[in-house]
Formats: sequence, structure tokens, C-alpha cells
Amino acid sequence: MSAPTVAWKTAWVTGASTGIGREIALQLLEKGVRVAASARTADKLASLDPRILAVPLDVTDLAACKTAAQFIETELGPIDLAVLGAGTYSPVSIDRLDAELFSEMMNTNYMGVVNCLAALAPRMLERGTGHLSWIASVAGFMGLPKAAAYGPSKAALINLAESLYPEMKLRGVQISVINPGFVETPLTAQNDFEMPFLMKAEDAARRSIDGLSAGRFEIAYPRRFVAILKSVRALPYPMFFWLIKRAILKER
Ligand SMILES: NC(=O)c1ccc[n+]([C@@H]2O[C@H](COP(=O)([O-])OP(=O)(O)OC[C@H]3O[C@@H](n4cnc5c(N)ncnc54)[C@H](OP(=O)(O)O)[C@@H]3O)[C@@H](O)[C@H]2O)c1
Repeated sequence: MSAPTVAWKTAWVTGASTGIGREIALQLLEKGVRVAASARTADKLASLDPRILAVPLDVTDLAACKTAAQFIETELGPIDLAVLGAGTYSPVSIDRLDAELFSEMMNTNYMGVVNCLAALAPRMLERGTGHLSWIASVAGFMGLPKAAAYGPSKAALINLAESLYPEMKLRGVQISVINPGFVETPLTAQNDFEMPFLMKAEDAARRSIDGLSAGRFEIAYPRRFVAILKSVRALPYPMFFWLIKRAILKER
């Protein structure tokens, strides 16, 4: 393998069987990084690229995450970048507040990241170097209709990154949180509405890697959509709900 064109030598990408994670794994490989890719579906991982180490894994299983981290470091060397992207989305209807769905989303999206962190952070802290990143979402900026289960799991991921960043930084470990807008992937294929500022997964992966390379704490895109959402978030609640009703529920 040729010398990497980025700072990292070895990366672990979760949620790498499809969508954004898959593209990040492939683009990191093209930059000369040794890549390990995880998701539950082994055959999709195996078909990524023969140079990628496929490590099938359910991120809700803490022991499996620890075993996977050990296995990857034995095979490829110390992991110096993690991109934790395993995630799931289901819309929530107010007529069917299914607690199991909430629990599944929190377990996969939030605890899935925490489980991988528990496996990786001690290794990086001991070495005094490394870069831990995860994919949250612009949906974590604020509560949005239908996102009552997904949104809180992503808000928790943003808060987790803010909580860990200062102390980890002092110990040599970089934390980044990636907040994409709408990206064309199997996850959004179920959406029955027009998605504003929809991006291709290749583009999302490129922006993610560029932001990680630049050492940014928050990598949020597309920029215009992010700026709009952050302005909406800053509004007083009466105006915020008025806008949400008009823009999303189409209620005048
Ligand atoms: N697409 C968007 O518009 C968008 C926007 C903001 C944030 N995001 C976030 O970006 C990340 C990637 O999403 P995507 O759009 O690329 O969706 P995707 O194509 O559906 O990818 C999700 C990935 O997560 C894996 N996964 C799901 N549950 C898992 C589990 N329990 N253990 C291990 N792997 C698991 C899936 O593989 P298996 O099913 O094989 O396990 C797949 O590789 C997610 O965290 C998502 O919330 C997406």
C-alpha cells in the first residue's frame, strides 16, 4: 500500500456496508489509509474492496466492539482514526409512540457509539494520540416532527462530543462530530417528502474526510442548510414552532 496522503495510517469505520460510511471507508482507502470496516451484514462488507479488512459487528454489543478493536489493532496496527457511523432511522407517528422503537434507536445510534468509544478511548489515551469521530445529524440540533426517536439519539451524540472534547484534547485525543443534512442513502430512501439540499453520499464522505483532516470539532454540511437550521434553532419558541408548522407540517 502506498504512503497515506492524510495523517492517519489506520482507520476503523462503522456503518460501512452502505451509504455515507461505505463511501468514507472507500475514500480513506484511496488516500492510502489501512481501513477496517464494520456493519452487521458480512457479505456487503466483503464486497467493498479486497484491501479493506471486513469486521462484521453489531455495535449494540459492547463485548463484540472490544473484541473488534483488539482484532483490528492486531491485524492493521494502532487505530488512529475512528469514524463511527452505524445508525438507523424510523419516523415516529404521534399515534404510535412505540417505546421499543425509541429504545432501538437510542441503542444503535447512541450506545453503538459509546460502545465503540469504550473499546477505543483507553487505547488512544494510553498512546496519547488518536482521532475519534462519529456521525450525528442536523436532526440533533432541534426537535423536528416525526424525529422524536431519531432526533434525541443524535442530540445525545452532539452533547457527548461536547462533553468529551476538552479533556480528551488535553490528553492528545481529538474528538469530532459530523452533522450531515440530507444525504442520498438507503436510510433516506424511505422518506416520502422532498428533501432540501439533498447530497450524494460521495460528496458527504469527501466533506467529512476534509473536515476530519482539518481537525475540526464540528463538521456540518451542506453549509447553507446548516446556517438556516442554526438560525431557526436560535429563535424564541413561539417563532420556532410557527416556522416548523409552516415549513414542515404545511399548516398556515
Ligand atoms: N442519510 C442522511 O441523510 C443522514 C443525515 C444525517 C446523519 N446520517 C447518519 O449517518 C450515518 C450513516 O447513515 P446512512 O445514511 O449512510 O445510512 P445507511 O446507508 O442505512 O447506513 C447505515 C449503516 O449502519 C449500519 N448499521 C445499522 N445498525 C447497525 C448495528 N446495530 N451495528 C452495526 N452496524 C449497523 C448499516 O449496516 P447493517 O445494516 O449491515 O448493519 C449501514 O452500514 C447514520 O448514523 C445516520 O444516522 C445520515
